[in-house]
Amino acid sequence: MLSNPVIDLIAAHGSVRDYRPDSIPLETIQAVVSTAQHTSSSSNLQAYSVVAVTSAEKRARLAALCGNQRHIAEAPVFLAWCADLARLDRVCQIQGYQQVTDYFESFLVAAVDAVIAAQTAALAAESLGLGICYIGSIRNHPAEVIDLLELPPLVFPVTGMTVGWPAGRPFIRPRLPLDEILHWEAYDTRGQDERLRGYDRAMNATGIYRGRQVAAAGATPQPPEVYGWMEHAARRVSQAIRIGLKGVITSQGFGLK
Ligand SMILES: Cc1cc2nc3c(=O)[nH]c(=O)nc-3n(C[C@H](O)[C@H](O)[C@H](O)COP(=O)(O)O)c2cc1C
Repeated sequence: MLSNPVIDLIAAHGSVRDYRPDSIPLETIQAVVSTAQHTSSSSNLQAYSVVAVTSAEKRARLAALCGNQRHIAEAPVFLAWCADLARLDRVCQIQGYQQVTDYFESFLVAAVDAVIAAQTAALAAESLGLGICYIGSIRNHPAEVIDLLELPPLVFPVTGMTVGWPAGRPFIRPRLPLDEILHWEAYDTRGQDERLRGYDRAMNATGIYRGRQVAAAGATPQPPEVYGWMEHAARRVSQAIRIGLKGVITSQGFGLK
């Protein structure tokens, strides 16, 4: 595999869930977010915002709202990455237009802008020796998060992110074989089952699922011989989660038609 400092940094990523209590200088957070601002953006609309939470009290509240995840309260900074069409609403108002926010595409444009900026911030943070962990559980209780962060209409938190100084080296999880992700000219599933089984064995061998199994919704079709990536993934995606999300997003003003 090719190697250079950027590729090596990306390949060394592991989510950090154990942080030292040390704070992060304000300028460092500003540098991370201003670097993220260089991310590509749909039509350069920059339809996202990020709320940086440093208050221990607010982080504790966020931890409670996001599935009681200890690392949210412990990391010195929590970043809430938001799809944001509110700024563009103001732009339209100033310019004498009416923004169309009725369609799913508008939400998707803003959500994609938010998450790709988040990932650039993640890399910038990691390049400075910080660790990060995405927090999708910010969508567990979105209405309460919206209240807590005082998000106006047309702003919705798509993902959270803990940021802090790692207490140790994070585990680097193996990924699916490249051929499972990269298709040439057209989507191609030949050899898929063998690739999935090989990855399942590799992930199981890491031991990361020991004591961290996801409970199955209902009865498992056939108790698995090994609990590996396939069983883990299947148990996750066979559960309906955050089923009220659409209602909260629409009540924030995104049409989703
Ligand atoms: C959008 C998104 C949401 C996530 N939400 C959570 C979360 O709520 N809590 C958590 O501990 N990890 C969360 N993660 C981290 C993933 O579990 C992690 O990225 C994945 O297991 C791969 O591990 P790695 O990041 O260490 O390579 C999330 C990751 C993404 C991309």
